[in-house]
Amino acid sequence: MRKFSHVIVKRPCRAMTEGITSGLYPGRPDYNLALIQHDAYIEALKQCGVDVTVLPADEQFPDSCFVEDPAVLTERCAVITNPGAASRNGETASIEEAVRKFYPEDRIEHIISPGTLEGGDVMMCGTHFFVGRSERTNEEGIRQFIAILEKYGYTCSEVRLEEVLHLKTGVNYLENNNMLVSGEFTDKPEFEAYRKYVIPENEAYAANCIWVNDTVIVPEGYPAVLATVKAMGYRTITVDTSEFRKLDGGLSCLSLRF
Ligand code: GLY
Repeated sequence: MRKFSHVIVKRPCRAMTEGITSGLYPGRPDYNLALIQHDAYIEALKQCGVDVTVLPADEQFPDSCFVEDPAVLTERCAVITNPGAASRNGETASIEEAVRKFYPEDRIEHIISPGTLEGGDVMMCGTHFFVGRSERTNEEGIRQFIAILEKYGYTCSEVRLEEVLHLKTGVNYLENNNMLVSGEFTDKPEFEAYRKYVIPENEAYAANCIWVNDTVIVPEGYPAVLATVKAMGYRTITVDTSEFRKLDGGLSCLSLRF
């Protein structure tokens, strides 16, 4: 079984109130409440047996608490991405500095312009990776990413996105062949081989749960998804993410797990 030993998170900054939002979940984040929710998120991760590295807030980048996007960390290599959102592109520098503490120089790879890629578009399923082609991740970014992964013995295939921000906004792998799917991903042939659990439309946000060492962290306030994950046999922890949701951010966006 896969096991995560480390997690990297980054404290939300005050400027998060100016973060990118689609407006799907209205309102501006309450910074103080976001800090409390972030504390609870870190505590939940620690309960899953991982060592958590907490990076300081960076006021230059309103969305920088969503550390999943500037890097993809695997067992064999780290990939520093090239975020497609202009206001997020500079987030990679401090993430790379943190990643260097865990990976040797020759195992750190980069997506370079004109390629763009954000980690929220990457879903790891064992040694196969799915990568979403989205408004943030382009064809050239995917080409580079596949070439990097193949160098390390992984496989990777593209999934086209029509509606959501990132691939993992709507589909998440919970190991043991279990996959949560919602909306546009429900009938995608790419995911036919998995045991799919279809999330009801009114709980679509909670398709973004995270598996951490056989515990699944579920966003608070989604009873149908919580019941589904419990019925799969996982231990569950719920965490309130209301302030991050206002920026289209979910549980996976808030950490790098490796
Ligand atoms: N607000 C997170 C993002 O759009 O990347």
